[in-house]
Amino acid sequence: MSATPQNETRPVTTATIRALKQARRPIVMVTAYDVPSARLADEAGVDIILVGDSLGMTVLGFASTLPVTLGQMLHHTAAVARGAKRALVVADMPFLTYQVTAEDALRNAGRFIAEAGATAVKVEGGAPIAPTVRRIVDAGIPVVGHVGLTPQSVHALGGYSVQAKEAGPALALLADCRALQAAGAFAVVLECIPVELAELVSHELSIPTIGIGAGAGCDGQVQVLSDLLGLGESTPRHAKRYAEVGDEIRQAIGQYATDVRAGAFPGDEQSTRMEEGALAEVRAAVANAREDTSPAIDPAGGPDAGADTRGPDADAGERW
Ligand code: KIV
Repeated sequence: MSATPQNETRPVTTATIRALKQARRPIVMVTAYDVPSARLADEAGVDIILVGDSLGMTVLGFASTLPVTLGQMLHHTAAVARGAKRALVVADMPFLTYQVTAEDALRNAGRFIAEAGATAVKVEGGAPIAPTVRRIVDAGIPVVGHVGLTPQSVHALGGYSVQAKEAGPALALLADCRALQAAGAFAVVLECIPVELAELVSHELSIPTIGIGAGAGCDGQVQVLSDLLGLGESTPRHAKRYAEVGDEIRQAIGQYATDVRAGAFPGDEQSTRMEEGALAEVRAAVANAREDTSPAIDPAGGPDAGADTRGPDADAGERW
């Protein structure tokens, strides 16, 4: 069970996350991209909400996370920060907003905190990115690392496959995690690596590991919300669908369409009626205006002179 269940109201901080590892209590992290998803995740009692650049694929329709811009991430992070009252909000730094120079990285990370209301940022990469992590952390911005399958490197990795299955890459991944920890990262995401390696890394590090496709031996788990809810077209092997919200939404929209077409929506409960007196006044004014203007409609007195031009239902029922 998480140390921050639904009835816990104190905001989650980086200290809370560290304490969860020390207490051996699993950290729960999920992605969210807007106010309703952040509010629901928060009310469900998750510890961390990640505004993942996965939003490029899950909500913006891109084929990868690479086209996601800083502006898009700031926009969605601000929405999530407005929706989350208690969970710690981590914003993903998108491709090329932190890899070019450490100065750029710090300036961009700062925007997530100052403009968008995030508490921390996440960057992909290991030892090569550690000096940048140090620079951001030294400015007072908490950083989460991300190693293993790093989606921003999909072309270099040759696809979305499990990483570090051999001894060499496994040891390199451990060294990457140590470098991130030494640089001041307060947690590290382990994506799609073998369970034994994730367990070993989690044991070796003093900072929490948060796994996705890395087994149960991590200090916490992160999942992409649409995978959990059944909103995507397919589900990755590492995910479990806890609901079929997509089916529910399709069914609800279909029922709405049926009701509109059948004249069953809106009904009286969704409508407001005028007071009798006001309605009589409006009707009289409309009738007077019609009388005053009708000769002018067709001064030539053609076959349509004086015809009602309001359409076939103009006097139908009580609509006016
Ligand atoms: O962008 C994202 O959602 C992520 C998670 C998969 C960890 O980085």
